[in-house]
Amino acid sequence: MIYFDNAATSWPKPPSVAAAIQEQMTGAGGNPGRSGHRLSIAAARVVEETREALARLFHVDDPSRLAFAANATHALNAALYGLLRPGDRVVTTSVEHNSVMRPLRHLETLGVRVTVVDGEADGSIDPGKVGDALRPGARLLVATHASNVAGTIMPVGELAAMAHAHGARLVVDAAQTAGTVPIDVEALGVDVLAFTGHKGLFGPTGTGGLYVREDVDLQPLVRGGTGSDSAHELQPGFMPDMLESGTLNVAGIAGLGAGVRFLMGSGIEAVQAHERELAARCVHGLRAIDGVTVYGPSDPASRCGIVSFNVAGASPSDVGLLLDESFGIMARTGLHCAPAAHRTLDTFPAGTVRFGVGWFNTTAEMDAAIDAVRQIANWARGKTPNSQLRNFQAEVGS
Ligand SMILES: Cc1ncc(COP(=O)(O)O)c(C=O)c1O
Repeated sequence: MIYFDNAATSWPKPPSVAAAIQEQMTGAGGNPGRSGHRLSIAAARVVEETREALARLFHVDDPSRLAFAANATHALNAALYGLLRPGDRVVTTSVEHNSVMRPLRHLETLGVRVTVVDGEADGSIDPGKVGDALRPGARLLVATHASNVAGTIMPVGELAAMAHAHGARLVVDAAQTAGTVPIDVEALGVDVLAFTGHKGLFGPTGTGGLYVREDVDLQPLVRGGTGSDSAHELQPGFMPDMLESGTLNVAGIAGLGAGVRFLMGSGIEAVQAHERELAARCVHGLRAIDGVTVYGPSDPASRCGIVSFNVAGASPSDVGLLLDESFGIMARTGLHCAPAAHRTLDTFPAGTVRFGVGWFNTTAEMDAAIDAVRQIANWARGKTPNSQLRNFQAEVGS
C-alpha cells in the first residue's frame, strides 16, 4: 500500500506517538490543573511539555501564548470569532479552506464585511492585490500558509508586513505547513497562527492549537472551567487558560508532544527537503504523461508536499478509485473542502486528485504512483481495456 494522503492526515504515526498516548491511558492519566494529586500533576506536566515543544518549533518566546484546540478548524474559529465584530472588515483569499470561508461567511451575516482577493491560476496570491484590498481600513487579513489544493506556499512575511502597514492583523492558517515548512512567528510577523496536530506534526486526530501574539486582543469563543481563578464567575483573561476551557485532550496532546519531538529530531528542514523532492519528482513525472494536467506552481520551492492533478477522460473520483482498488495507492479526490480554490484553478465542480506526500514516503513509491497514473491515463484514452485494469486489482488483492 502507498499512502499519499498525508495532506488529510499523516500516516503512519511514529511509534513514540502511540506509546505516549498509551502511557496516558494506563500510566499518568489525571486531569491537568484540576487536582493536586500526582496523576493530575503528571498530566499537567505532559501538557506543558507539549506546549514548550510547540513554542520551540514556532519560535515563540512565551509558551503560554499557545493554546490547545481540537484541530485547525477549531483554532481558526476561535481566532475569527474572537477578533471580528459587526462592522469590521476582513480580507481573505480565494484559495482558503472552508474552515476559514464558512466562519467568515457566517460572520458576514452578523455584519462583518468580507473581501475575497482572487488567487492566480497556479494558486498563488498577488500581494499587490492583497494590499489594494486592505487599503480601505480592514481590521484583519486571513490567509493560508499553503493551499491545500494547489500546494502553493504563500509569502506570509510579506503579507504580515502589508497587513501591519494598513493597521490590520494577520491570521495564518498553518494547517498544511505546521511541521512541513519552517515557521518563525516572530520573524514572519504573524499575529495569530492556527495549526493542526494530526498532519505535519505527527500527532493524533483531535489535536491542534493557536498562537496569539501578546498584543492581540482576542476574546474567547468558549468559556468555562479552566482549573484556575475558580472563585470568579468571569472567564480568566490570561493565556492560555482564557482559550482552554474544559478538560483538554491530554492523551492526544501527549501524542502530539511525541510527534513534535520526533519532527524536531529529524529536523523540519530535512522534512521539507524530502517532501519538496518527492513533490518535484511527482510534478515532473505526471507532466510528462499525455492527458494529465498538473496544477500549482512550477517552482518546486514554492510548493509544499501537495500535488493536485487531473486525467483527461476520467473523473477525479474514478481516478481515486482506480488508484486505490487497482494499485493500492491512497489519494484524496474532489474539492478538498476548498471550493473557491477550485474556482480559482478552474477545476470546480469536479475537483482534482490530490497526492499529499509525507516524511515516510519514498522515491520508489512516487515512481510507482507515476506509473499507475500513466496506466490510468492510457485506460482513459481507450488504450487499455477495462479487463486489464481489473487485473491490477487482482494483483493488489493477492
Ligand atoms: C488549509 C487547511 N486549513 C484547515 C484545515 C482544517 O484542518 P482540521 O481538519 O485539522 O481542522 C485543513 C485540513 O485539511 C487544511 O488543509
